Amino acid sequence: MATNMLYNNTTCGISFPHQSLHVSFCSNLSTFPHKTVKYVVGVDQNRRGRITVKSKTVSDNDDLEVDISLSPRVNAVKPSRTVAITDQATALVQAGVPVILLAAGEPDFDSPAVIAQAGINAIHEGQTRYTPNAGTLELRQAICHKLKEENEIAYTPDQVIVSNGAKQSIAQAMLAVCSPGDEVIIPAPFYVSYPEMARMADATPVILPTSISDNFLLDPKLLESIITERSRVLILCSPSNPTGSVYPKKLLEEIAHIVAKHPRLLVISDEIYEHIIYAPATHTSFASLPGMWGKTLTVNGFSKPFAMTGWRLGYIAGPKHFISACGKIQSQFTSGASSISQKAAVAALGLGYAGGEVVSTMVKAFRERRNYLVKSFREIDGVEISEPQGAFYLFIDISSYYGREAEGFGKIEDSESLCQYLLHKGQVALVPGSASGDDTCIRISYAASLPTLQAAVERIKQALINLTSAGLV
Ligand SMILES: Cc1ncc(COP(=O)(O)O)c(C=O)c1O
Repeated sequence: MATNMLYNNTTCGISFPHQSLHVSFCSNLSTFPHKTVKYVVGVDQNRRGRITVKSKTVSDNDDLEVDISLSPRVNAVKPSRTVAITDQATALVQAGVPVILLAAGEPDFDSPAVIAQAGINAIHEGQTRYTPNAGTLELRQAICHKLKEENEIAYTPDQVIVSNGAKQSIAQAMLAVCSPGDEVIIPAPFYVSYPEMARMADATPVILPTSISDNFLLDPKLLESIITERSRVLILCSPSNPTGSVYPKKLLEEIAHIVAKHPRLLVISDEIYEHIIYAPATHTSFASLPGMWGKTLTVNGFSKPFAMTGWRLGYIAGPKHFISACGKIQSQFTSGASSISQKAAVAALGLGYAGGEVVSTMVKAFRERRNYLVKSFREIDGVEISEPQGAFYLFIDISSYYGREAEGFGKIEDSESLCQYLLHKGQVALVPGSASGDDTCIRISYAASLPTLQAAVERIKQALINLTSAGLV
């Protein structure tokens, strides 16, 4: 095996591209802020393929050797682009640049007062201890009631596990069911975390492309053609982040028909945006379809519908066998979710069918913003749109602007450089579609007030005009 040392100042890690060993390290280790790593003294690989990187700190003449190698699992995973671009934009705002932030995927509303009050009461009433690993019985019963009433799926509390956000629920489900070499089928454009979660579970993400002309909905024939005996999970997300597409019941039935033919294939149905949906579109839970209960893990959460992102609460429901496995993992990772958040979640579910008036007021605002953005972007040359039916994102094809040059910026090569251009020259933070597996598009989150969106549209328009006037190169 060729050994190839690669030094830079930003990354720490080891990767194995094409059998050669690359070692990179940081010159400043944050764990040793007063010391500086100056050089790597040795790279060893033992018979089991384990790599050890020894480095020396020399700034204060001591002789400390540190193994700075990281797990191959970490090196295989990409950090979240959504988080990265939001951090980048926030840093610009802190430096005084008036950037409009439309990158993050969180409602701009405060948590409804009843929910917040329930959290406060929980603290005052001493509900501040560990809860059962799977969540309080009170909350799991409320979730079962919700799933029966709203989604027509029957679960008992031992078929539900509450976690610190739906993100944890999905990650645990993948860890629970995937074996090394299994494939996780992910329709693109996808929620940025799905492929990385699959990788962390030692599975291989298999990306299934969709097209804007099909409203980013998967083609059942294509799905059928890529299923193998290694296919373990199909992830469905409806309403979708990042596209806002909603799977019609008929299409889900076609997918169910295919899934039914493959005993190993399970479905993780991410329904976290279920309440944020614009009539006439309607939501269908995959597990409610004939034969699908036993093959489906239904994911939902409180972050999006109830504006509770910071409370960190999500859940997954499914056959007890799988839910117990998720519980086993959770019991060694985090144990039960916050007792206070769980009390608040019970109040959220008590707001009535689909969150009642409180949620429908937020959905009304999202709908108004969606209508405004769709109309505005339809008026811009070279932009292609599929009108979102749910969630709070607009995923637009803007690839006709690639290849153009921006003065003082350079060439727009792809969705990443377009977003960097819009951030630095237009002062609007958006997410490149490449992060979701579709480089032709960019994602605009409309979890922002209408006046903010109006200002953002003006800036984007002007930035695109500047590109247009610079002409094609
Ligand atoms: C599709 C989808 N699923 C799951 C999550 C995770 O939500 P949380 O962990 O906040 O419950 C998100 C958050 O952005 C999402 O967009």
